Amino acid sequence: MSTLPTENGWNSFQPLRLYEGFWTFPHFLESIILAQHRFKPKPGDIFLCSAPKSGTTWLKALSFAIVTRNLYDTSNSPLLTKGPHHCVPNMVGFEYKPDVRQPGIPLIPTHAPYHCLPKSVLGSDDVKVVYICRDPKDAFVSMFHFAANRRPKENEHIAIEEAFELFCLGRSVFGPAWDHILGYWKASQERPEKVMFLKYEEFMNDSELYVKKLAEFIGYPFSFEEEQGGVVKKLIDLCSFENLSNLDVNKTGKRHEDDDEATNKTFFIKGKVGDWQNHLTPEMANRLDNIVEQKLSGTGLSFELNNGSS
Ligand code: A3P
Repeated sequence: MSTLPTENGWNSFQPLRLYEGFWTFPHFLESIILAQHRFKPKPGDIFLCSAPKSGTTWLKALSFAIVTRNLYDTSNSPLLTKGPHHCVPNMVGFEYKPDVRQPGIPLIPTHAPYHCLPKSVLGSDDVKVVYICRDPKDAFVSMFHFAANRRPKENEHIAIEEAFELFCLGRSVFGPAWDHILGYWKASQERPEKVMFLKYEEFMNDSELYVKKLAEFIGYPFSFEEEQGGVVKKLIDLCSFENLSNLDVNKTGKRHEDDDEATNKTFFIKGKVGDWQNHLTPEMANRLDNIVEQKLSGTGLSFELNNGSS
């Protein structure tokens, strides 16, 4: 660890380390490296992957609701009392805990870039990978607010211009953001039956279509009767920003018992497409758009730029 390049991140108390082309916090890195060496996939495992602030909480909630819909209905789902991050704890990417898989819930979330997933997963025909990405402008703004909310109160927060500068240099948690997205995009092109690529904006625009696609891809398709009976809509409503963000557990609950900054509330800010327009100048938006456009050019992937929708 100590031999890896280190730079200041968005705050002075958490430097970023560069590992296999990505910047991240040392404690995330340790868990990724441990997972690379130790993780043993089980048939049916589903990796839920994302860059930070790109829809992780939403993807966790929806996937949990999909795979547990025969165990719970929407009035007694654990999502109502535990929150998405406790219903689907991270195994890879935050802390490495090989035994957190709950019976019947084969969901494994991580922020690790695609090429940093355990080789056992990359080579497996029995594991599915779902990735959600988001317009980097919104992901940046979301990250900026998240970091501000989570910092120890005595620390002054970085100015948005300074954080933006670092983000454009690729220096953010799991940055460069465009390389994170591209790694999963290319994998989804090469192994479409194993790697699904989703966009937050598309999900927002047509949740019903994408929830059905997601359920089908991970091996829990909705039956005709379920579709007719409105099950898809019920799960979408259960996992909506409005519903989840208004639950007591997500207003006052904590992510980790001993961590006062990590309240569940910090995972729910606005849940909108295009909030960057309230925080970035047109020049900043253009600059980031140009970087992203250039990096994605020729890959077949693009974001609808500058109008806040995908
Ligand atoms: P904003 O900061 O733009 O509001 P992550 O879950 O990857 O940490 O991303 C957090 C972002 O997703 C935040 O975006 C948050 O508000 C939004 N979010 C959380 N839960 C959501 C949900 N159920 N539906 C839509 N967006 C959600």
